[in-house]
Amino acid sequence: MQSPAVAPPLAQDADLADLADPSFWQLPRADRLEAFARLRRLDAPAYFGAPGRGFYALVRHADVTEASRDPRHFASAPGVTTPEPAAWAKAVFGNSMVNMDGAEHAQMRKIVSRAFTPRLLAAAEEDVRAVAARVVDEMLDRRPDDFVASVASRMPFEVICNLMGVPENHRREIAERIDQASENVGVKRGLRMPGRGLRALAHMQLVMAKLARERRRHPTGDLISALVCADIDGQALSSRQLGAFFSLLLVAGVETTRNAIAHGLALLTEHPDQRDLLVRDFETYADGAVDEIVRHSTPIIQFRRTVTAERALGGRTFRPGQKVVLFYASANRDEAVFKDPDVFDITRSPNPHLGYGGGGPHYCLGSHLALQEMKALFHELLTRPRDLRAVGLPELVDSSFDNRVRALRFAFETR
Ligand code: HEM
Repeated sequence: MQSPAVAPPLAQDADLADLADPSFWQLPRADRLEAFARLRRLDAPAYFGAPGRGFYALVRHADVTEASRDPRHFASAPGVTTPEPAAWAKAVFGNSMVNMDGAEHAQMRKIVSRAFTPRLLAAAEEDVRAVAARVVDEMLDRRPDDFVASVASRMPFEVICNLMGVPENHRREIAERIDQASENVGVKRGLRMPGRGLRALAHMQLVMAKLARERRRHPTGDLISALVCADIDGQALSSRQLGAFFSLLLVAGVETTRNAIAHGLALLTEHPDQRDLLVRDFETYADGAVDEIVRHSTPIIQFRRTVTAERALGGRTFRPGQKVVLFYASANRDEAVFKDPDVFDITRSPNPHLGYGGGGPHYCLGSHLALQEMKALFHELLTRPRDLRAVGLPELVDSSFDNRVRALRFAFETR
C-alpha cells in the first residue's frame, strides 16, 4: 500500500466543529448533532486531525452507504475503531472479524453465521421471551433505581450467554470482567476509547478457551459446540478465535443493545404520545418503534475504513492510505433521507436507518436478534408494571465511538 497522501490543508469554515478534538465529544449531544448538520451541507467530506494522520468524515447517508458497500476501495483492515487495536493485542487475543476483509472475513463470517440462521433464531425467540420475563420479575421484586445495570445490560448479556452455552457459574465473573473492560477503558483526555480494558478481556479469553476445549470433547448442541466442532466443510474456530468472537459478541451484541434499550426507555418517556401508540397496539408498532429507537439513538456512532485504491466519493477523490470515518450518527439525521430527522416517530416508514451499518459485507449479524430482544423486553416493561418511566435524562459517557448510557434512573408502580 502506498503511504498516505498528505491531506490538503482544508479551508475549513471557522465555525466548523473539529471532530478530531476530544472536547467536541464532550459537548451536549444536541450541539454535536447540529455540527453534523452543518457538515452535511458542505460540498465534500471535510478533513480532521493532523495532516496525513487524520481522517475524512463521511456524514451523509448516501456517502456512508456507498463506502460501506465498496469494501474493495474502503477496507476494514487494519481496524475499524479509533485508535485501532495494537498489533500485540491482535496477536494475543486474535483479530476480530470487524477488522478483516475479503476471503479471510468471508470465511470467518460463514462460520459464525451458524449462530444466526433463521432456524436457530426461531429457537432463540422463546428463550429471549423467557429471559425478558425473568429480568422483569427480578426488577419488580427488587425495585432497583438504575435501569441500565438492572435491566438494560442484563437482558442482552443473558441472551448471549444462553446462545453461546456459557454455564451459569461462569456468568457473574464474565459480567464483572466486562464491566471492568468497559468502565476502565483507556480514557484519553476524558474520552472513552474502545479496545482497552485488555486485562479483563484476557481473563475472559481464558474462560472461553477452557469451555472450547470441553465442548470439543463433549459437544452439547449449543453455539460454542457448533463453532468449535468442524462442520461438513471441515471449518471450525480455534479456541483463540472463539475467544475473539465471544469478546466481539459481548461488545457488539451486549453493549449496543444495552444502550439502545436505555435510550428506548428515555425516548418513550420523553414522548408519551409515541408510548401510548405502542401500548395501544404493540404488535402493529413494535418493529417500527425498535427501528426508530436505533435510528434516533444510534448506539454505534462511527466506524472507520482505510482507502486501498483511488476512488471518488461524495465530491472528493480519496487516495490509498487515507482514512475515512463513517458517521452513522450523522447519516441517521440526514434530512435528504428522513423527514424531520430530529423527531422521534415510531410510525416512520420507510426507515432506512444505518444504525446497523450501511450494508455490505460487515452489516450487523445480530440485527434480528436485537429486534427480538427489544420487542420482548419492552412488551414486558410496558404491560407488567404500571407507568414505568425514566426519571431525568440518561447519564451519558463521553465517547466518540458509542452512544453509551452509564446510568438511567427509573420508577414504576406495581399493578
Ligand atoms: C441495537 C443493537 C445493535 C447495533 C446498533 C449494532 C450495530 C452494528 C454495526 C454498526 C456494525 C458494523 C456494520 C458495518 O461495519 O457495516 C455491527 C456489526 C456486527 N454486529 Fe451488531 N449491532 C447491534 C446488535 C448486535 C447483536 C445483538 C449482535 C450479536 C449477538 C451483533 C453482532 C455483530 C457482529 C458479529 C458484527 C460484525 C459483522 C462483520 O464484521 O461481519 N450486533 N453491528
